[in-house]
Amino acid sequence: MSTPVIPEIPADITATPEWAALAEHRAAIGELHLRDLFADDPGRAEALTATGADLVLDYSKHRITRDTLPLLTALARAAHLPERIEAMFSGAHINTSEDRAVLHTALRAPRDQALTVDGQDVPADVHRVLDRMGEFADAVRSGAWTGHTGERIRAVVNIGIGGSDLGPVMAYEALKDYADRDLTLRFVSNIDPTDVSEALRDLDPASTLVIVSSKTFTTLETLTNAKVVRSWLVDALGDEEAVAKHFVAVSTNAEAVSAFGIDAANMFGFWDWVGGRYSVDSAIGLSLMVAIGKERFAEFLAGFHAMDRHFRTAPLEENLPVIAGLLNVWYANFFDVQTHAVLPYSQYLHRLPAYLQQLTMESNGKSVKADGRPVTTATGEIFWGEPGTNGQHAFYQLLHQGTRLVPADFIGFGEPNHVVPVDDGTDMHDLFTANLFAQTAALAFGKTAEELAAEGTPAELIPHKVMPGNRPSSTIMAPKLTPSTLGQIIAFYEHVVFVEGSIWGIDSFDQWGVELGKVLARQLGPVLTAAEPDTSGLDPSTIALVKRYRAWRGR
Ligand code: F6P
Repeated sequence: MSTPVIPEIPADITATPEWAALAEHRAAIGELHLRDLFADDPGRAEALTATGADLVLDYSKHRITRDTLPLLTALARAAHLPERIEAMFSGAHINTSEDRAVLHTALRAPRDQALTVDGQDVPADVHRVLDRMGEFADAVRSGAWTGHTGERIRAVVNIGIGGSDLGPVMAYEALKDYADRDLTLRFVSNIDPTDVSEALRDLDPASTLVIVSSKTFTTLETLTNAKVVRSWLVDALGDEEAVAKHFVAVSTNAEAVSAFGIDAANMFGFWDWVGGRYSVDSAIGLSLMVAIGKERFAEFLAGFHAMDRHFRTAPLEENLPVIAGLLNVWYANFFDVQTHAVLPYSQYLHRLPAYLQQLTMESNGKSVKADGRPVTTATGEIFWGEPGTNGQHAFYQLLHQGTRLVPADFIGFGEPNHVVPVDDGTDMHDLFTANLFAQTAALAFGKTAEELAAEGTPAELIPHKVMPGNRPSSTIMAPKLTPSTLGQIIAFYEHVVFVEGSIWGIDSFDQWGVELGKVLARQLGPVLTAAEPDTSGLDPSTIALVKRYRAWRGR
């Protein structure tokens, strides 16, 4: 098989004719209002709605005309997006700064797919690990796997941070309705001692299984928490041997796992071509698989794969992640927008914004391009959000009437996971979904001074009550929140990030910006604790903070 080719990134995307055409189009659009865009184009809602796998994307409430998407897809072609998609799927080393393939899409590919990359039969390896995970999950769920004293496992503690935590915890929370509710799941990530203390306080070591999840198995937070939990367990059970029945590891680093004292038989591997923030569908999802079972986990993976197929094969103009990614570029680069709200209308998705913060901001928060030269555009979006309707009673005021433009993704579902009637005969989910639709309409169309006057609003209140509208949003809907649709939503966002990164010419798969803080934290540890700390080389502000801290700790 020939080595897949990585298309060259344009030296300066802003110098292309496609960029110039978009700049001109943006000037022409000016303050054109969504009210007028809809009034002038009766077919707009239908025309600007696309479907992919089970997801529907209504992007009609964006500040675009029917000319905008063709101009954006022309830009995508100038950035060689179609070739880059193919390069990613086929295993080219598109993570150039680390010289690695980027193959999270292979984690959910069927067993019989042919894909050899750098001499590795990728699907064979992926499914070998999935099969082992399935056997293990079955054994824990059935009670066949017991703890050191013969007790059945009743609690699972996942220790990890970043992608080794956010993916599993977000997906577990999202799919709780499908989980074995006799198993307690806990997630420990922070090196703040309160995190581990709270997680363990009511657990019985004899019936607790610990999954240490770390791609590198060198992460300070994870190894520290793992050591603390190991002591908690060994102290309670009085035997080092207990570790073998209560600790398993998920990692790419077999050597470090065995140095920690976890047997290779209790390790589930993955590969350097899986980025941490793209790893929930690898063995990093083991805690989720134990919670929901291997069959549901397979549905989760099938959902990812359905979106992967759509992304790889649908024309750019009908391709959900392409449309959404290009719209993000449209606002970031042509409207100077800084932030992006993600507003899931599902309480089960309450950790999705945090998950997407890592996915989007660790991937695309870059100032140099993949070729090492400075970027020529703004990059990255500041992702944030909360589930509806809680957000409505907190920060939506700014979305509706503030001075900043904040494009938003509203995510909703047709069928609820719980049908709960209210005593007046209404269905809670109908009320909930009415709120979602109401918010996107209010943002887009607002309320004019004339409308308020016609309703008899006192003149002095009119300026306060005017809703300017023209605030863009996407509505992303799925028939129901299931393992499959969750997989589709995650894959959708993974590919949105890829589309943006391709336009900006950056490597969305490295994260060098987190390294300096880690090094400094290791250096500062002894400065906080040593009898005679060496503060040479530290800045005056840090020295003062260290002094105050040491005084509080009586040092
Ligand atoms: O510090 C950032 C990071 O490297 C993330 O990219 C990653 O998800 C996280 O740390 C955890 O890393 P690991 O899985 O190697 O412990």
